[in-house]
Amino acid sequence: TPAAAVIPAAGRGVRLGPGAPKALRALGGTPMLIHAVRAMAASRAVSLVVVVAPPDGAAEVKSLLDAHALPERTDFLVVPGGAERQDSVRLGLDALPPEYDIVLVHDAARPLVPVDTVDAVIEAVREGAPAVVPALPLADTVKEVEPAGAEGEPEPVVATLERARLRAVQTPQGFDRTTLVRAHETVTDNVTDDASMVEQLGLQVVVVPGHEEAFKVTRPLDLVLAEAVLARRRL
Ligand code: C5P
Repeated sequence: TPAAAVIPAAGRGVRLGPGAPKALRALGGTPMLIHAVRAMAASRAVSLVVVVAPPDGAAEVKSLLDAHALPERTDFLVVPGGAERQDSVRLGLDALPPEYDIVLVHDAARPLVPVDTVDAVIEAVREGAPAVVPALPLADTVKEVEPAGAEGEPEPVVATLERARLRAVQTPQGFDRTTLVRAHETVTDNVTDDASMVEQLGLQVVVVPGHEEAFKVTRPLDLVLAEAVLARRRL
């Protein structure tokens, strides 16, 4: 069965600094979103990419996609996004044609994820997992704190989590389509990833190995790293 990828790309990217919406910032001269779309289309299993554009930017995103080559076997659709990431994903799901039973959700902000990671996620869904996330062990120790009221105030530590049991979760996250649609209909809390909505349904989410190059471009330093990864690939 073919897979479709939904790419939420409607965020402003305020943490990256002032400028265009994050997904439209250039990386190696090409918009980050185009890299992300190509990363999904690189998988032979993916035959449709649904891009969720900034609410007022769908026409711009459509012409951007028209101007950049994709593999011939890949179709794409552009739909306007919503206020929260979850709204954007749901609007993307609403646009999916019925024949797609496997759905990937991939952040536009992870433009450099290798195709092997994409394929590993799809494979695990095909083998029967309702939800699959790529993830990596952490380098940093993680502490829970009582968040400070004011910026720069010291924050009391509440607990130290056991690092060896923690994973930093990336995208694409892969889903049995029916499960993801049900999760979006059922869960209304604000969440930071799609798989956690499936966890809230009481279903088993599984982790497959992620990749260093699937990091999220969030802060200005991440752009420096992304440019370096691209330059190394082009050697
Ligand atoms: O803010 P964060 O880095 O978690 O955003 C992850 C992804 O979700 C980005 O690709 C961003 O464009 C997307 N997003 C969206 N709609 C929103 C907010 C974020 O599509 N309203």
